[in-house]
Parts: sequence; C-alpha cells; structure tokens
Amino acid sequence: MSFPTDRPATWFVTGTSRGLGLELVTQLLQRGDQVAATTRSTERLLAALGDRVDTSRLLPLTVDLRDDEQVRQAVRQATERFGGLDVVVNNAGYGYLAAVEETSAREVRDMLDVQVVGVWNVLRATLPVLREQKSGHVVNVSSILGLTAVPGWGLYCAGKFALEGLTEALAQEMTDFDVKVTIVEPGYFRTDFLTTDSLALPASTTDAYPGLREMTENHLKLQGNQLGNPVKGAEAIIREVVRGDGPLRQLLGSDAHAYAAAKVDALRANLEATAQTADATDFADA
Ligand SMILES: NC(=O)c1ccc[n+]([C@@H]2O[C@H](COP(=O)([O-])OP(=O)(O)OC[C@H]3O[C@@H](n4cnc5c(N)ncnc54)[C@H](OP(=O)(O)O)[C@@H]3O)[C@@H](O)[C@H]2O)c1
Repeated sequence: MSFPTDRPATWFVTGTSRGLGLELVTQLLQRGDQVAATTRSTERLLAALGDRVDTSRLLPLTVDLRDDEQVRQAVRQATERFGGLDVVVNNAGYGYLAAVEETSAREVRDMLDVQVVGVWNVLRATLPVLREQKSGHVVNVSSILGLTAVPGWGLYCAGKFALEGLTEALAQEMTDFDVKVTIVEPGYFRTDFLTTDSLALPASTTDAYPGLREMTENHLKLQGNQLGNPVKGAEAIIREVVRGDGPLRQLLGSDAHAYAAAKVDALRANLEATAQTADATDFADA
C-alpha cells in the first residue's frame, strides 16, 4: 500500500475514549488526517479531546463493536463523510486477570465478543472497501500476550492469540490486493489498561491461587509506573503505517521484545526436543 501523500488519509479507529486509541486520534487530527473514531461514549471521547485539537476532521461514532449492523452502519457513515478509507485500526480491548478455572462462561464470551467477534465485524465491513481500491492498511492491536502466555492472563491471551491467528491469515489473503496488515504487540503501557475502570476481574474466585491474587494487587499498584509511553506508542504505530514497509509484527517496548525473544527460544528448544519423534505419525507411503 502507498500511504496517501497528496491528501489527508482517512483512518477508522476503535476504542478511542482512553489510552492508546485516544492518543492515536489526537495525533492523527494534529497531522491533519481524517478520523472516524468508534467508542462506547462519544461524550467521553469529546471531553478527553477537549480543545487540544481541531476536531473538524473527526467523526465520533457510538458503536457497540459486538453488533455487526452497528459496525456496518459506522463504516458506511465514515466512507460517506470522508469519501473512502485508508487505514483501519482495531484497538479496542481490555485486560482480565484470573486463573483459567475461575473464568466463567459469560466472562469468556464477553472477552471474545470484543477482541475477536468485534474485530471480525470491523474487518467484514471494511475489507471490501480496501480490497476494491487495492490499497489500505489494517492494524490489529494485539499484545505481547498474543504471542506468549503467563499465569492469570489465560482469557486475555485466548483473545489475543485468536486475534493473531486471524491476522496472520488475513495478512496473506491481502497480499494480492496490496493491503498491508500489521499486528501491534505492546508490552506494559501507561494507559488506563491496569485501572479498575478497564481491567476486568472474575465474578468469583477460589482460594487455590493466592499467587494470582497477589499478582492482581501488584498489577493494580503498577498503574502509573508502566514502562511504555502511549504518546510514543501512538507515534510509532502511525510512523509504521505511513512508511508502509514494516514487518508483520510491530513490537512496542523493550519488555515486549524480551518476552518475544524468550518465546522464540522456548519454541526452538521445543522443536529440537520433538525433531526425532514428529515424523513417527506420518503414513510411511505418503
Ligand atoms: N496498556 C497496556 O499495557 C497494553 C498492553 C498490551 C496490549 N494492550 C492493548 O492495547 C489496546 C488499547 O488499550 P489501552 O492500553 O489503551 O487501554 P485503555 O486505556 O483501557 O483503553 C482501552 C480502549 O478500549 C476500549 N474498550 C475497553 N473495553 C471495551 C469493551 N468491553 N468493549 C469495547 N471497547 C472496549 C475503550 O473504548 P471506549 O471506552 O472508548 O469504548 C478504550 O478506549 C487494547 O487492545 C489492549 O488490549 C494494552
């Protein structure tokens, strides 16, 4: 994809009233780009933007991302208002901290509804536009926990691993259409992510996991001290889209990079440990 240089680009960004999404919208408007910004509360988005930026190129949209028709309607409004679409950023998401066995069916569905079904709704509505114009960029905001898993984050990892799987497939499907696809994998960033406004906790717990309760407390205390700067995070995402030649995975943060390196090492050790046995299940005549 060649990012437009002769006109403002049009971005469709989800989850924009706080954190990374809010910072993206702010910087994009400051660049002079056009932004369709989805949120559950346009009042919260507009209040957060205040008079820091000119909002004449902003289309704030109240959208329940889980609702296919609401998403389609939002994309229609965006293309009608701006006359097209260049970049789609699936950013909305939230954390959840509990042991796998403490996670209820409702909590599983809620997470996957936002992080998988919601993204899929946005892709189904936007891909035909990008595909037909043979240009565009899809950015799916995953996490380093979309690549490696740690205790207590099982449900969040399930959502982000699923997001990464569908995005890897999408990236390959889009090569024929000159649509670029990027997976963003942040480490800990100083957004609202670890506040009780964002981070979800289980409806009920057992006393079998005192280590996870302690970890939850420590995460809540980490708020305000995370390594990642969301201003620089948003800058990095925009820079990568404008350049358009980056790798599939954009790691954000030295913590994310270290976790990814450890995952690759563990995977390599696992490959070596199974190298002699993997072919034992093959048909001999195949
Ligand atoms: N901060 C981190 O440490 C970190 C690390 C790795 C990955 N990430 C990922 O980065 C993305 C942005 O998160 P952030 O750090 O900016 O956190 P944040 O400050 O809590 O903002 C999250 C955004 O996601 C939207 N959102 C949250 N829960 C939602 C729900 N149930 N349904 C629909 N939208 C919802 C919110 O949009 P509205 O309220 O406007 O609807 C909000 O603007 C997420 O996908 C997150 O998983 C963050």
